[in-house]
Amino acid sequence: MACRRMTEPAPQRLFIKTYGCQMNVHDSERMADLLAPLGYCLTEDAAEADLAVLNTCHIREKAAEKVYSELGRLRRLKEDRAAAGGRMLIAVAGCVAQAEGEEIQRRQSAVDLVLGPQAYHRLPELIARAHRAGGRIVSAAFEAEAKFDALPRARGVSGVTAFVTVQEGCDRFCTFCVVPYTRGAEFSRPADLIETEVRGLVDQGVREITLLGQNVNAWSGAGEEGLAGLIRRLARIPGLARIRYTTSHPADMTDDLIAAHGEVEALMPYLHLPVQAGSNAILRAMNRAHTAETYLATLERLRAVRPDIALSGDFIVGFPGETEADFEATLSLVREVGYASAYSFKYSRRPGTPAAALPRQVPEEVKSERLQRLQALLSAQQNAFNLAQVGRVLPVLVEKVGRRGGQMIGRSPYLQAVHFQAEPDQAGQILAVEILEAHANSLAGRRAPPA
Ligand code: 5AD
Ligand code: SF4
Repeated sequence: MACRRMTEPAPQRLFIKTYGCQMNVHDSERMADLLAPLGYCLTEDAAEADLAVLNTCHIREKAAEKVYSELGRLRRLKEDRAAAGGRMLIAVAGCVAQAEGEEIQRRQSAVDLVLGPQAYHRLPELIARAHRAGGRIVSAAFEAEAKFDALPRARGVSGVTAFVTVQEGCDRFCTFCVVPYTRGAEFSRPADLIETEVRGLVDQGVREITLLGQNVNAWSGAGEEGLAGLIRRLARIPGLARIRYTTSHPADMTDDLIAAHGEVEALMPYLHLPVQAGSNAILRAMNRAHTAETYLATLERLRAVRPDIALSGDFIVGFPGETEADFEATLSLVREVGYASAYSFKYSRRPGTPAAALPRQVPEEVKSERLQRLQALLSAQQNAFNLAQVGRVLPVLVEKVGRRGGQMIGRSPYLQAVHFQAEPDQAGQILAVEILEAHANSLAGRRAPPA
């Protein structure tokens, strides 16, 4: 993003490193937007940063530990800056901040500021306080109020796709998951505000929006029939061609939302619907509020109204007590569904979650071996799904210039990246593309003659 204040006073350099989910990516952009009017310009070089923000993820131990190693690197850069007479503030934002609070400074004393996801709108004030604190930590990790709508929304959008946060937090309390603790209770933004934001984005050239929420299909608004009502309302906005939403819980796939997939042309035939595991005993221990059978029944109903719907999911292997037979139930569910893409993880024991205290934790080598088997199956399915597009003509929303000359990159309705020859001024158009080649993570094609 361009720096809005290029003259006096000298621009401040802002380095942001983002970990974890799409919500964090979005939050990082909003933090940059909030600081831009104060003269902060983004830099990719942490060494020149006046303010370095790590927007962190606590969902698995590995993600949280990466933050501490990055903090070690930033501390050395901060010391170099101080030796040269300069000053760098280090801020930890996101879910590690929320979960670990001032504990972070005990592990890494170079941290000046710790702020949880609910405190981002106070960032300018907190930076000022950190400057005055003379190295003592400023902490706003446990704010209770929602950050929504205190943050700027009329932002400079450059692309043709945009994320719009409609819901935050989660009340589902899956026993492995920190999100209900780090992101708090479910909160839905009012439909009017969402519609105004989307209209503004469309005015700036956005053609596709993805509605974001930790449990997005639990969205509810006064006078709306839930997420399906919101989608129908947004689909009426002239110029908005495509709508997606993520991430959904299987137990919140209402009849109305399923029906919307059959009716609303703009709603894309791709759904990320995590199942986590295929064994009912494990799903019960996870407190998932669905079984393998109810999950499959939901997919059947979706496919009845939208036969070409492509599915994606999240999986956890090695949840406490998972036997070989339980794991095989996951493999067999995956075979039955046929996923277009998927994310799979080894169970990571998160302090404070109920599953962390369960007996029969699964040994690391068993988790690794199961993950390998699951990932082999899932990537074979992804390859098969991509290959099945060869020879088809797909409507591709042109997004941006590709790496090779004359090449543009767009997205298929199924969220696949598609490379083909087109002009840069065709960004934002939906073009018919004949798919010629399939790769692991993308497709290649050529413009098809108009039908
Ligand atoms: N261990 C491993 N994976 C987890 N996820 C959430 N918590 C854990 C954990 N403790 C995964 C789930 C979720 C995705 C975002 O991260 O699959 O859907
Ligand atoms: Fe975590 Fe998703 Fe379960 Fe909520 S529904 S507790 S975010 S895994």
